[in-house]
Amino acid sequence: MNVITSIIDLQKTIRRLKNNQKMIGFVPTMGYLHEGHRALLKRARKETDIVVLSIFVNPLQFGANEDLDQYPRDFDRDHKIAETEGVDILFYPSVEEMYPNELSVSIKVTKRTDVLCGMNRPGHFDGVATVLTKLFHLVQPDQAYFGKKDAQQVAVVDGLVKDFNFPLEIISVDTVREEDGLAKSSRNVYLTEQERLEAPILYKSLKMGLEMVQSGETSPERIISSIENIIHTETTGEIDYVSLLSYPELEELETVKGNYIIALAVKFSKARLIDNIIETRE
Ligand code: PAF
Repeated sequence: MNVITSIIDLQKTIRRLKNNQKMIGFVPTMGYLHEGHRALLKRARKETDIVVLSIFVNPLQFGANEDLDQYPRDFDRDHKIAETEGVDILFYPSVEEMYPNELSVSIKVTKRTDVLCGMNRPGHFDGVATVLTKLFHLVQPDQAYFGKKDAQQVAVVDGLVKDFNFPLEIISVDTVREEDGLAKSSRNVYLTEQERLEAPILYKSLKMGLEMVQSGETSPERIISSIENIIHTETTGEIDYVSLLSYPELEELETVKGNYIIALAVKFSKARLIDNIIETRE
């Protein structure tokens, strides 16, 4: 595995690979790799010639009150996982390498952001879109892999790729879960013992919402309030949002029809967890 920290070295390497007609699969991450990331890497390994993994904790996507400094980091462990998963190139730039100067141009995301996580994280998806624009230009992937757990991120990246004509395909990969249903996440390490016991209720409540739709319920309000009710009564978490929207447009629905997402975010004492289910109702 080739670990590259400089942009110039990455560009040289990518140019050579492109000249040799290699198909590049890209998994952008902020490190502290878990099973969810492994699933993306495995899929990229299966589908492409060269797997590029980036590890970069992107300051632009953290708000003033968010956990940039506390974001978990463990490069040695990540390096081992990357090797095990057959990564060819690990791009691991510093903040100075990625942002040597204050940006004179940045990307402003104008749709699909004023709901779900975007609602309470102004500027977050601008930061994600800005770093991905840089990374897509540098890595020039044929396919880029994202987890469905961050469904809003996938919807925003889908818009970015279409609007700016990046010649790549977005592959969204199913959420990897613990045996009890909790979606894997770097943030799960911040849960207390008690909160870890409660956390699987989030997925359980989403599945209950899905069952309501499958048994004929068409009112988003009634589904949302049943989910909220379970979370209130069975966990100590504070609900950030529970929403049911069209997908990937992320627009309000009067009745549940077509592609839709039921998504939630719940704050525990030191971790804010998100989860979702994406489905279709004919
Ligand atoms: O999902 C993440 O880890 C980040 O938002 C991403 C896509 C790597 C951009 O920094």
